[in-house]
Amino acid sequence: MSMTQPASTPSHPAVRSLQVSRISTPLTGTVAVPGDKSISHRSLMFSALAEGETRIVGLLEGEDVLRTADAMRALGARITREDDGRWHVHGCGLGALKEPADVLDMGNSGTAARLLSGLLASHGMTSVMTGDASLRRRPMKRVTDPLAATGAVFLAREGGRLPLAIQGNANPPPLDYRLPMASAQVKSAVLLAGLNAKGETRVEEPVPTRDHTENMLRHFGAKVSVEETPEGGRVIRLQGKPRLIARDITVPGDPSSAAFVLVAALLVAGSDVVITNVGLNPLRTGLFTTLREMGARLEITNERTEGGEPVGDLHVKASSLLAVDVPADRAASMIDEYPVLAVAAAYARGISRFRGVEELRVKESDRLASTVALLEKNGVRTKVDGNDLIIYGTQGAIPGGGVVETHMDHRLAMSASVLGLVAENPVEIDDTAFIDTSFPGYFPLLNSLGAGFTA
Ligand code: S3P
Repeated sequence: MSMTQPASTPSHPAVRSLQVSRISTPLTGTVAVPGDKSISHRSLMFSALAEGETRIVGLLEGEDVLRTADAMRALGARITREDDGRWHVHGCGLGALKEPADVLDMGNSGTAARLLSGLLASHGMTSVMTGDASLRRRPMKRVTDPLAATGAVFLAREGGRLPLAIQGNANPPPLDYRLPMASAQVKSAVLLAGLNAKGETRVEEPVPTRDHTENMLRHFGAKVSVEETPEGGRVIRLQGKPRLIARDITVPGDPSSAAFVLVAALLVAGSDVVITNVGLNPLRTGLFTTLREMGARLEITNERTEGGEPVGDLHVKASSLLAVDVPADRAASMIDEYPVLAVAAAYARGISRFRGVEELRVKESDRLASTVALLEKNGVRTKVDGNDLIIYGTQGAIPGGGVVETHMDHRLAMSASVLGLVAENPVEIDDTAFIDTSFPGYFPLLNSLGAGFTA
C-alpha cells in the first residue's frame, strides 16, 4: 500500500491511496452494514423540527450525516449521542429554527445541502451554505428554482453553485411543482419548504423516487397523501403547518452500502455471505432485481418491518453473471448502485446496457465519466450512447492494472476496490478517504469476510 498524507482540512480529509490485489480465497461470513444514509439525514432534520425528544437507533455515523447533525445544532436543535450509539434530538418545533451564527458546511453531501435549502428557504432568516470541492461543483439550481416561489432569495455562484446565501421567508406560500428530473432530493426540498406554509403543497414526480421523506413525515404526524398518475408517476400532497411530534426511529442498514459487499461476494469465486438488516424499500431495490436478472444467487430472508421500513437479510453466493439491459424507468430505484453494477457487468459475459442514466452526471463526481474511466483504465471496453452506458463484459477476465481517480466520490472508491478484488493485475485507487462519508468501517468489514485489504 502506498500512502501520501497532505494535511487534512475541515472539507478535505487526508488522502488515503490504496493498492488492491486479486484474492484467491472466497468471502465468507455474516456482516451488518451501517445505517441508511437517506434515512439518517432525514431523521436528524425532521426530529429537529418536531416537538419533544426523538431517539434514533442505528444512525449512520458517516461524515455526510455528521454534517447534517452539526447543521441542525447550528439551527437550534439539541443533539447528543450516547456511548451505545443511540442519538437523541430535542427539536425546536416547526418554524422555530434559529439563524445560524456561521456558514453551514455540508461537506460532501448533496442530500444535506438540497434538503436543508428547503428548510432554510421557509424560515425568516439569512443563512449561507457551502461544501467541499465536490459539492461546490454540483448543481443547486434544481432546488433554488422551485424554492424561489416561496419568496426566498438565493444568491449563488455561477451556474447556481455553492456557496449559497439564502434569505428565507417566514410565511412562504405552498408550492405546486412538477419535477423535471427524477430526484428525491428536489422532491424533498419542496416538501420540506411546504411544512412551514399554510395550505397544501403538491409535488408531481414523473418517476417514483425514494419516499423516505413522505414516510418519515407521516411518522412524525404530518398529513401526506400519495397518488399514482396514469403515466406511472406520483403526486404527493402535504398539508402545511402540521404538528410534528417526536417519535423514535430505527434506521435500517443501507442497501446502497450493502451493494458493494453483495457484488464482491457475487464475483469472488466460492463466496457465501449474509448481510443482515438491510433496508428493502421497493424504491431502493432496483439493484437486487437487476442482479437477479443477471443470474445472481441472491436470497432475501427474514423479511420484516422495522421503524416503518421493510428490512431483511441478504444471502448471496458467488454466481456466474450474464449481461443485462437495465430499463431507464428503473434508474431512480438504483441510482447510487450503477458504479458497482458496472463492475459486475464488466465481469459478466456479454454486453450490458444501462439506459437513461443521465442523472449520474451530477453525483459526487460525474459518475458517468468516472465509471467509464474506472473500467477503461482497467482494460474493460465501454461506450456512452446518448444517456445510455454500454459495458463489454470480460467473462471473468478484467485485466486491471489501472490507476483509478475517484474525484472525491465514495462510491467510485468502493467500486474500484471491488474491481481490484477480481482483476488480473493490482488496481491503484488514488484516494479512499471519502468512503467515510457513507460507509465508515468499509475495509475492516470486508476484511472480516476475507478480503485482505491493506487499508
Ligand atoms: C438521495 C437521493 C438521490 C441519491 C442520493 C440520496 C436522497 O439523489 O443519489 O445519494 O437521500 O434523497 P437525487 O435525488 O439527486 O437523485
